[in-house]
Amino acid sequence: MTERIVLAYSGGLDTSVAIGWIGEATGAEVIAVAVDVGQGGESLETIRQRALGCGAVEAYVADASDEFANEYCMPTLKANALYQGHYPLVSAISRPVIVKHLVKAAREFGATTVAHGCTGKGNDQVRFEVGIQTLGPDLKCIAPVRDLALTRDKAIAFAEEKGLPIETTKKNPYSIDQNVWGRAVETGYLEDIWNAPTKDIYDYTATPEFPPAPDEVTISFEAGVPVAIDGIKVTPLQAIKELNRRAGAQGVGRIDVVEDRLVGIKSREIYEAPGAMALITAHKHLEDITVEREQARFKATVGQRWAELVYDGQWFSPLKRSLDAFIEDTQKYVTGDIRMVLHGGQAIVNGRRSGTSLYDFDLATYDTGDTFDQSMARGFIELWGMSAKVASGRDIRVAGK
Ligand code: ARG
Repeated sequence: MTERIVLAYSGGLDTSVAIGWIGEATGAEVIAVAVDVGQGGESLETIRQRALGCGAVEAYVADASDEFANEYCMPTLKANALYQGHYPLVSAISRPVIVKHLVKAAREFGATTVAHGCTGKGNDQVRFEVGIQTLGPDLKCIAPVRDLALTRDKAIAFAEEKGLPIETTKKNPYSIDQNVWGRAVETGYLEDIWNAPTKDIYDYTATPEFPPAPDEVTISFEAGVPVAIDGIKVTPLQAIKELNRRAGAQGVGRIDVVEDRLVGIKSREIYEAPGAMALITAHKHLEDITVEREQARFKATVGQRWAELVYDGQWFSPLKRSLDAFIEDTQKYVTGDIRMVLHGGQAIVNGRRSGTSLYDFDLATYDTGDTFDQSMARGFIELWGMSAKVASGRDIRVAGK
């Protein structure tokens, strides 16, 4: 039987050419797998037909948009995960869900190998291959752009020679990856890190210099997950989409950073994640009133480690799973409403309420009704400072000698 290879297919030039290229280089049949993670753009049927037109023996499209929102975006939200304090892991969280569908398709179609279109310089190759190794340890992995040296020029020449149904003239100067959680833009003019991004780079966000009137929104959460917007029930996918629209219109969620890739390169990235950033901001503010202080402090460290693991392609690792269990436990009381104003590129919280809040008005107030016994503070401070005071006494003693 002819060997079969499952290819992660985007519908773009590189992976379209890869279909025929892999066939020629290996003699295998190629099954193209496209996964919808809410990236928008062309219909999945158009992408499917293109794959078949480029020589795939089968083309499989998976609608994973709800799965992606529920099982990948929501854990990211619960963790308030921002890699290096900035990046909400847009591409990093889409790779594991794509991998899941690649491995599933490999089983269904009896493939022995999985292929992806990443280069050898980025994080995504690591995320794909580590994921495949973990979920399908018997599967082999190939990366034609990297391993078979399929350069862009070669891809164009191949597509023209074979008359493939794919546009080869439109040269986008940027490398773009997008899904419902956000959009990542890199390379080209952005590689000079002093160059400011031009407006044409953005797609999910409007330019905030010309802002529409402020937009006030109330987001309701249950156990860390958004369940309603302005009182209207939503699924996680609908919540992200609705906030992409409303926060995006106000220019919220633009990120311009130089980040540390796993492969040791620093790289310039432009992200747009209006829905994700609005949700993370709201969620964090709800945690501020519902999560106990020590748990909250520790969770910030856990969330940072979680973000690094996920960035580094360890989605399916035991440590990531253990951290998930901790994070999940902290979300039990993260239920309530956050009101925020979206305007001028910012999402600013201006109200919060929760039936499971730890905010105690009677303890906090400086007005009548104060139940806090201020005389307790003196002794507390005396003991709290004792250890440092004893140590500073020694400093003085030693210096005096
Ligand atoms: N640097 C980001 C990451 O590693 C984004 C990568 C996006 N991929 C792309 N082909 N533009 O998560």
